[in-house]
Amino acid sequence: MKIACLAGDGIGPEIMAEALKVLDALDIAGIELAHADVGGTAYKKHGQPLPPETLEVAKWADGVLFGAVGDPSCDSLERHLRPEQAILRLRQALTLFANLRPATMFPGLEDMSALRPEVAREIDLLIVRELNGDVYFGEKAIRTLDDGRRQGFDFMSYAEDEVRRIAHVAFRAAMGRGKKLCSVDKANVLETSQLWRDVVVETAKEYPEVELSHMYVDNAAMQLVRNPGQFDVVVTGNLFGDILSDQASMCVGSIGLLASASLGEDQTEYGTKGLYEPIHGSAPDIAGTGKANPMAMILSLAMLLRHSLGLEEQAARVEAAVAKALEDGVKGADLGGNSGTAEVGDAVLARL
Ligand code: IPM
Ligand code: MG
Repeated sequence: MKIACLAGDGIGPEIMAEALKVLDALDIAGIELAHADVGGTAYKKHGQPLPPETLEVAKWADGVLFGAVGDPSCDSLERHLRPEQAILRLRQALTLFANLRPATMFPGLEDMSALRPEVAREIDLLIVRELNGDVYFGEKAIRTLDDGRRQGFDFMSYAEDEVRRIAHVAFRAAMGRGKKLCSVDKANVLETSQLWRDVVVETAKEYPEVELSHMYVDNAAMQLVRNPGQFDVVVTGNLFGDILSDQASMCVGSIGLLASASLGEDQTEYGTKGLYEPIHGSAPDIAGTGKANPMAMILSLAMLLRHSLGLEEQAARVEAAVAKALEDGVKGADLGGNSGTAEVGDAVLARL
């Protein structure tokens, strides 16, 4: 069972170390680990954010455990050299088109939510975000018009097969949960969204048991704070999914708690090949202070065990240990507590 560890920038290495402590404690036979540089760290050492060796390691692995990328000192580099390009290119190179971002309220954390506890308590949703298309990967540039004005543009598009494959992932996820799917788009303004909606409706015919609804993204942003309990599975494009998943994280208390899986169609010997990362970034402001909450990283490891290695029992154990630590009041600075990175990691280990 091959795991690639790409710790990356900022708090990445600190939280990765805690996830690896947990992996070690599980004592799973036959795990092979490989580490590689990525992001700003890789740029500084190798002159590029995703060196070929790193891509090779990612291709070799059954599952990629990914910390975070982003480094303010790289923000003025040409775009293709910036740390964020590493994750975008990995998602593309490995055709990881389905991003699963679960947001569930942990018992005991209701008071941490930005929402009222009785509203927050109901949150148990899964955002299925398309990850290989949309305005992220269209033609883009800053060009100079004939009259000398600069113009920035990013081409937004979705081909029907791209929509169909993510729709299938979302419908299947809904079948395994509450059988409700809400497709989020902006079909009242965007043609890209109109096609999205048409294809989702066509795909729905194969899933008669799933109750399908559609929502414009502006309304979805509002509903997510008004009544998040109404959502089961949400499927949406790359850009809207990026935004809504950050929003969902604050609804459950902290961005330091949300894990994600990025999956494609490639099967490994044990499951589906994938990349697993916290939805938060590299948090350069707290890097090196030992304050980062490693829980999202540890929960990402749990998703890797489940989806790429077929180790459901171990995955559930890790998730239960995190939930128990939270229930017992173990809180990092992001949750208003004072447990440091290693302390939170140790607390999870103790409950494992
Ligand atoms: C995320 C991040 C990335 C994205 C960035 C780092 C490119 O915000 O995974 O949500 O926009 O997809
Ligand atoms: Mg994001």
